[in-house]
Amino acid sequence: MTGSDDLCSLRWDSSRGMAAIIDQRLLPHALEWCHLDSLEAYCFAIREMQVRGAPLIGVTAAFGLAHALAQDPSDENLANASRALLATRPTAVNLRWALEQVGSVVRDLPVTERAAVAHDKAVTVRKEDIANCERIGNNGLEVLRGIGKSRLDIMTHCNAGWLATVQWGTALAPIYKAHASGIDVHVWVSETRPRNQGTSLTAWELNEAGVPCTVVTDNSCGQLMRQGRVDCVIVGSDRTAANGDVCNKVGTYLKALAAQANNVPFYAALPESTIDWTCRDGAEIPIEERDASEVLSIAGLDASGARREVNLAGAATSALNQAFDVTPAQHVRGLITDYGTFDASEAGLQKMRSVIERG
Ligand code: MRU
Repeated sequence: MTGSDDLCSLRWDSSRGMAAIIDQRLLPHALEWCHLDSLEAYCFAIREMQVRGAPLIGVTAAFGLAHALAQDPSDENLANASRALLATRPTAVNLRWALEQVGSVVRDLPVTERAAVAHDKAVTVRKEDIANCERIGNNGLEVLRGIGKSRLDIMTHCNAGWLATVQWGTALAPIYKAHASGIDVHVWVSETRPRNQGTSLTAWELNEAGVPCTVVTDNSCGQLMRQGRVDCVIVGSDRTAANGDVCNKVGTYLKALAAQANNVPFYAALPESTIDWTCRDGAEIPIEERDASEVLSIAGLDASGARREVNLAGAATSALNQAFDVTPAQHVRGLITDYGTFDASEAGLQKMRSVIERG
């Protein structure tokens, strides 16, 4: 399932000539596809988190720019559409990377050729994302085998599964591979306040795939590690700096600290497109601040099955909603990538770079 065309987070609907996405805001209660028919629809989908997860944000942006060029292939529209898409979310660097992938192949072309080339490039970005994530899965499987246990309790945070990419995922790809290879895996899924990607997306994905999992509150994760109930932590990343600092969903840093204190190996899994070679360290990574209402209210289904949003706080209460945090490289045991597993350090990433350059 995780590697099949039937279930993926974004597909090209050739009959309608449009990209279609799963509206992730409705999961786990409804699986609804939504067609993106304008640049505004693409920007809305990314900003309002119908799609989310760094690689999927990138793939969506690639199709968004191709769509904009099909409407108007001029230089001016190329610049305006790129700017509008780039402004949707600030932290996941795959967004900038994907826009550059499309922009760089069309920029020097005659305007009449741009739309078709941009579309082909978006299709390639999507296809390569699937292949890269599968490679992360295979490389991560070796890491998991190295732990040397027939039963593994793995902790993850947020959603870094196929819903956050196109298929496979980053942090969940090794878990799917391990499950398929007969390792007895169980996943601790941290709920991931305030948007609850753990509860609503990761647990849903794992249940669909038949991988045993248990949702836990974010603040119980340190305790579970201390009790010896976690063999390994694997998270994704929205942007990794050139020194190996890992930016990921807020709450990741606390897990890394607890993992180090309890000698639990902590890994980040990411494709090369998530590395920002221009960021020297995590302090340079822009951290998205989202609306306080995400912290102060919560949405779900009531007993009658109707969707309701309820306030959790008094009217005078304010909240700060930083969506991501940075885990310094020293707390990360390794970076599981599409090119292998490397030390989370400048030297480790330079080694990865030379592997990429050798082809
Ligand atoms: O705010 P989100 O849901 O887009 O954040 C997603 C995450 O933090 C993921 O863990 C990250 O993108 C890694 S993705 C494969």
